[in-house]
Amino acid sequence: MGIWSKKSIAQLQGEEGKHELHRTLSGIHLMLLGVGAIIGAGIFVVTGTAAAQHSGPAIVLSFVMAGVGCLFAGLCYAEFAAMIPVAGSAYTYGYATLGELVAWTIGWDLMLEYLFASSSVAVGWSGYFTAFLRDYLHWQLPLELTSAPFDVHPGSHIPHATGAIINLPAMLLVALVTGLLVVGIHESARVNNLIVVLKVGVVLLVIGFGAAYVNSDNWTPFIPPNTGTFGEFGWSGILSGAGVIFFAYIGFDAVSTAAQETRNPQKDLPVGILGSLAICTVLYVLMALVMTGLAHYSTLNVPEPVYVAIAKAGPALSWLRPIVALGAIAGLASVVLVMLMGQPRIFYAMSRDGLLPHFFGRIHPRFRTPYIATLITGVVAMAVAGLFPIGLLGELVSIGTLFAFVVVCSGILVLRYRSPDLPRPFRTPFVPLVPVLGILVCGSLMFGLGLATWLRLIVWMGIGFAVYFGYGHKHSRIAHAENAPQEPPPANLGGPL
Ligand code: ALA
Repeated sequence: MGIWSKKSIAQLQGEEGKHELHRTLSGIHLMLLGVGAIIGAGIFVVTGTAAAQHSGPAIVLSFVMAGVGCLFAGLCYAEFAAMIPVAGSAYTYGYATLGELVAWTIGWDLMLEYLFASSSVAVGWSGYFTAFLRDYLHWQLPLELTSAPFDVHPGSHIPHATGAIINLPAMLLVALVTGLLVVGIHESARVNNLIVVLKVGVVLLVIGFGAAYVNSDNWTPFIPPNTGTFGEFGWSGILSGAGVIFFAYIGFDAVSTAAQETRNPQKDLPVGILGSLAICTVLYVLMALVMTGLAHYSTLNVPEPVYVAIAKAGPALSWLRPIVALGAIAGLASVVLVMLMGQPRIFYAMSRDGLLPHFFGRIHPRFRTPYIATLITGVVAMAVAGLFPIGLLGELVSIGTLFAFVVVCSGILVLRYRSPDLPRPFRTPFVPLVPVLGILVCGSLMFGLGLATWLRLIVWMGIGFAVYFGYGHKHSRIAHAENAPQEPPPANLGGPL
């Protein structure tokens, strides 16, 4: 017992039975949900930075490499999600297989994926929003109020002042979305579908029309020579670039948290996870080819690289620029919403297990939403979005999520060995090969992210362990075998996620 205590699968499935959410989502819905959560600041913003600083045109190979890592991890996620279709995602899987300490580690780590990712995407949103105001409404917001006051040089971990004060648009977006989530107005499936169609439409337009204006000289050399520093171009640059743009794939695992609202989780979850991943990989590879073909990679280190790439095509594609800006503005806002909705659910699951204080799970009497967890998430995400640049945040989000994926892949190995006979509606193929490859590829991508990002992860996890041993461990319901009745979650914990 203690830090290694586990929740049994039967116990988790019993918890699921208490939930009374409507099972309305099909595999196609989940796929749309996944694509909605995945396509965001990664392709619209981070691709430019990663190409300019790490991979050059070979960012295309970085996308393939990151996609392969996600595929292996996705296959492992699908086995868990179909077997344990309850809220909490990888945190819950960790509790079932590797014990409480590992579950806590994942839960704490997932804050990087959800909370910090919402801040990163809000910063990306701010770039397109500011550019749209500037170019189409002739309203130039001051740079001091639209960018981060701190930045770090690549590879360094000492922040320096940029002269800016705060990223106000990013903070306002987080505040607005948090407000909507507190009163329980969450994106309806229909609005989500509309935004997904818009986002995918914009990406297809850029690919289709941009391809005609590609200057293939921009692709030479396809793999720029390494500068002598690990991660700056060459093959190590492709690896580092893959770690950085891994951010662009984050979100497909969010599909697993919709298990309780899925008609047939056993069949639909794998379809949703793997389908959305496949669609995005193809779109990303094509988009990266077109962007680096339109503009030289060295010019893409800007807050709105897709926009800049299209501008290189000249007046012929000027009609496409406002469409890209509007697509990014609507599309990135919806990613922020999904991320800010996911985080309180994980807090909820952790507080239900006693690992976080009870108030994290408190439900608003009128709105029926986990309002305290939502507000805490929103305030922290707002501060982070206002203060830090997307490059720094994106790398932290990537390493945090990769770490969670490594643990999920390990969990599949452990559970196959420990409980080989459990019913598995979806079986990860080629075990142990697929989880082992998942661990290796995701581990390599983590390695590519460099020392400074590792140090930040270690500090973050150190704080997490301090909180666990100072609070969670002492209050854990499972470890202390408390049988206190658990209230079912409110309907508003459901929703499109
Ligand atoms: N995959 C999400 C994005 O790129 C986090 O915005």
